[in-house]
Amino acid sequence: MTSPSPSSLTVLVIGTGGREHALVRALALDPAVTGLHAAPGNPGMAAHATLHPVDPMSGEAVAGLAESLGADLVVIGPEAPLVAGVADAVRERGIACFGPTGEAARLEGSKAFAKEVMEAAGVPTARAFVCTTAEEVAAALDEFGPPYVVKDDGLAAGKGVVVTEDRQVAVDHAAGCDQVVVEEFLDGPEVSLFALCSWNEADGATVYPLQPAQDFKRIGDDDRGPNTGGMGAYTPLPWAPADLVDEVRRTVLQPTVDEMARRGTPFSGLLYAGLALTSKGTRVVEFNARFGDPETQPLLALLDSPLSALLLGAATGTLADVPPPTFRVGAAVAVVLAGRGYPETSSAGEVVTGIDRAEEIEGVHVIQAGTALSGDDLVTAGGRVLAVVATGPDVAAARAAAYDGVTAVEFEGVQHRTDIAKGI
Ligand code: AMP
Ligand code: GLY
Repeated sequence: MTSPSPSSLTVLVIGTGGREHALVRALALDPAVTGLHAAPGNPGMAAHATLHPVDPMSGEAVAGLAESLGADLVVIGPEAPLVAGVADAVRERGIACFGPTGEAARLEGSKAFAKEVMEAAGVPTARAFVCTTAEEVAAALDEFGPPYVVKDDGLAAGKGVVVTEDRQVAVDHAAGCDQVVVEEFLDGPEVSLFALCSWNEADGATVYPLQPAQDFKRIGDDDRGPNTGGMGAYTPLPWAPADLVDEVRRTVLQPTVDEMARRGTPFSGLLYAGLALTSKGTRVVEFNARFGDPETQPLLALLDSPLSALLLGAATGTLADVPPPTFRVGAAVAVVLAGRGYPETSSAGEVVTGIDRAEEIEGVHVIQAGTALSGDDLVTAGGRVLAVVATGPDVAAARAAAYDGVTAVEFEGVQHRTDIAKGI
């Protein structure tokens, strides 16, 4: 692999969502990034990066684009291309790529595989059964009792998991999937802990955790209604135990990446541990193989370290040579504005106004996700349309600024939660 100069980088970000806009924004603020491209991108990213059409699921197309742009680093945002091996195709052309191999991305791509790795690595998680028949599902549901937790084994864009008191709902969800994981219900607050990971033969695995964040998965206030991709997030978590990051590094992150390396499929990129802080201790709810959305928005809003060096270090196996990430004091909150009908349907063509007014508020910026241009108008083009992100001296101040920004942004059918980071 060629060694790009870390002080003059051309970076290509693959994806269209809020996570990718947040990554593009942070890279644009990094003086070491001298060329910035996004594909396919969204109108928000166009403020910082040159956009290019590409099929993000085609390794050939992504690698070809990266080559034609002279990219030193490619950052693959979403899970589907990672699981499809797009990062492998980029690396095969000798271009540094942030994101795990297709093999390693199975930590997210198959919940059964993730359970197997956790078991081998001794990582604490919910007891679970992998089921392929209705009889196996029935037996597993009875073993655990309500509330029932049934997970589609494969990628399902945040909609594969049903948590319900209603046995029939659990049975019906399982019947719609080829293979499911039925597992014990985990009580307690959820935490998202992201870690930058790299691996090389000489040093083994390096793990740099970011600070913890919390996501709000349900569509409605007070955690009511169906699961979504995430309706808001904040960081840091003033209520979390002081040793949480160290504990999770020791009991979850390091054993998992060590086990992946032992299997000959080392993990590099971003390992996302979704955790439940239960009455019996910390348990892994899920792994993802990429930055979380929307947690990335508040995390990157507070990141003090230059992002490109961290991503390049992870991509090239040299993370240990880069100083660990540091965050500014204070807090950040993101509130997602979704379109009418989300999460069942997505919105299209509704004119979005007021982003400029929101960004006039001290500490506020807007991250776009499901947006498009229609002539000169910015319009909705997805379920989660955008996120209003604010920083402030503490969570309450950041939250107040974010909700001030929310009132400035308008589009037909807009829905958002009113309780993101409330009472923190
Ligand atoms: P996952 O895609 O596995 O993160 O699941 C999505 C959401 O479903 C999680 O963020 C939790 O809110 C919920 N969930 C998943 N697994 C469990 C569990 N074992 N117990 C309770 N809630 C869960
Ligand atoms: N915020 C949840 C996710 O990115 O999967």
